[in-house]
Amino acid sequence: MSFFSKPILAIETSCDETSAAVIVGREVRSNVVASQIAMHQKWGGVVPEAAARAHVQAVIPVIEEALAKAGIANDALGAIAVTNRPGLVGALSVGVTVAKAMAFGLGIPLIGIHHLEGHILSTLALNDTPEFPYTCLIVSGGHTELVDVQAPGQYRIVGQTRDDAAGEAFDKGARLLGLGYPGGYAIQQAALTGNPTRYALPKGLSGDTIDFSFSGLKTAVLRLVEKEGANISVPDAAASLQEAIVAVLTERSMRAMDQLGSRTLSLVGGVAANVALRTRLQAACDRYGYGFFPAPIELCTDNAAMIGLAASTRLARGESNDFSMDVYPNSDL
Ligand code: KG4
Ligand code: ZN
Repeated sequence: MSFFSKPILAIETSCDETSAAVIVGREVRSNVVASQIAMHQKWGGVVPEAAARAHVQAVIPVIEEALAKAGIANDALGAIAVTNRPGLVGALSVGVTVAKAMAFGLGIPLIGIHHLEGHILSTLALNDTPEFPYTCLIVSGGHTELVDVQAPGQYRIVGQTRDDAAGEAFDKGARLLGLGYPGGYAIQQAALTGNPTRYALPKGLSGDTIDFSFSGLKTAVLRLVEKEGANISVPDAAASLQEAIVAVLTERSMRAMDQLGSRTLSLVGGVAANVALRTRLQAACDRYGYGFFPAPIELCTDNAAMIGLAASTRLARGESNDFSMDVYPNSDL
């Protein structure tokens, strides 16, 4: 696999993190993330217009910090990479507009990257990277997908959620349990002292499938909260919810590996930061003799480094976009 040789500035503004990174080859020289979580917390979720406006304020300072941390001057850059799909249109537009202006001003190539390809290729930052072909489990706030990764740029979705994403199940469960937003990390922490077998929660979809369904879980947590009232044990409920999600993600991943005849699994996306999930998948892969490659924790939730890594593979293949490049709220991988 080859990588672009000159420094790449990557920009990610698809949702609620403003991020910029400098990548050389497959080395992350800097990765700055300005989170809007505090702002969106008071509404209990991401407000698109507020997100776009916060990107407008943060994007140039974040880029300046990424360049300074990497010790790279503007005129040493070889390309500008930016997430242009999928995501919130207003949020994406901020990053794409800045990326176009910089590429135009510096006279260097511009490349638009699919956010999910960024997540998939976040494992390129590992010292020891998974060998192609392999199976990738993407678990984030918007996605739950099992992907057959043949090579950089060659992806086939083999399993996916039929309703909510795994991250949404964490976030909605956390909200019902009064643990705030975003919920994944809050559930993980509350679960540390909880009993995962205390409350029985549904795992969604029975039979031989490698698809997922998490909407029943949300309803079950709602029923549990209504039934138990003030008697509910939040740590036990958090542990039971985490257990239901981790168990189903592990079971379906192992089934997909078996069906594809794959021997290597990678784990990426915001929910990949979950320690219980990483531990369980590691144990399952050990049992079957599979290689397991979880993304570096700091590259699990949204960041520009993963966008730069994906760009590095595409630029090395001679790809780039012209200045009429658009943003796409919905886009298949
Ligand atoms: O990849 P990401 O930053 O954004 C999307 O592309 O969606 O993922 C965000 C999701 C949120 O649902 C958040 O609750 C979840 O990742 N998350 C976690 C953890 N850290 C973040 N879920 C479980 N355990 C965690 N430690
Ligand atoms: Zn993401």
